[in-house]
Amino acid sequence: MAGRPVNDRPRLVCASANPDKVAEMEAILAGVVELIPRPGQVPDVVEDADTLEGNARLKAVAICEATGSAAVADDTGLEVAALGGAPGVHSARYAGEASSYADNRAKLLAELRGAADRSARFRTCVVVCAPDGTEVVVEGVCDGTISATERGDRGFGYDSVFQPVDGDGRTFAEMTDDEKNAISHRGRALRALLAALT
Ligand code: IMP
Repeated sequence: MAGRPVNDRPRLVCASANPDKVAEMEAILAGVVELIPRPGQVPDVVEDADTLEGNARLKAVAICEATGSAAVADDTGLEVAALGGAPGVHSARYAGEASSYADNRAKLLAELRGAADRSARFRTCVVVCAPDGTEVVVEGVCDGTISATERGDRGFGYDSVFQPVDGDGRTFAEMTDDEKNAISHRGRALRALLAALT
């Protein structure tokens, strides 16, 4: 379904405009999928679906239609048990429409102050959409806990407050890129995609 160039590596246009996510996608898909950058002239998609899968599909379909090529989109949410699954699909704008990563982390830590249950999980939904209308949908989940304070200066988004259960107590922001990608929601989703495509 994905476009096949001469070297037979699947070729996908990346629907994401977030450089932090694109860097991880490139590292995880390296050597297996050729990731083509999102064309700059395509307007941003309004992500107004109420599920991660719905938003990923909106982005993948928009880029597929604009380019005429197979496209891949990732939508990710942080689901916190004590907050009933919030911020979830609203993770990017948790502290308001124009909120920064730091604003969102500050709101999350404030909401969880004194909470006994700090369990959470990242969920990534990846949708690949091809011009013939076929699609592949995969998901990756990473369970963890929200730390009491921010730790680490790598990564992005909520990385400095998220300790994965499959790690050693460090937050994602205290890990190298390879360590994060080996156990992260995005790593798991994209490896499931590779299994589906190859
Ligand atoms: P998006 O809608 O998929 O771009 O992601 C929603 C928000 O989740 C982003 O703005 C980030 O704040 C956060 N996010 C997504 N992926 C990650 C990650 O791998 N680590 C930390 N935060 C993330």
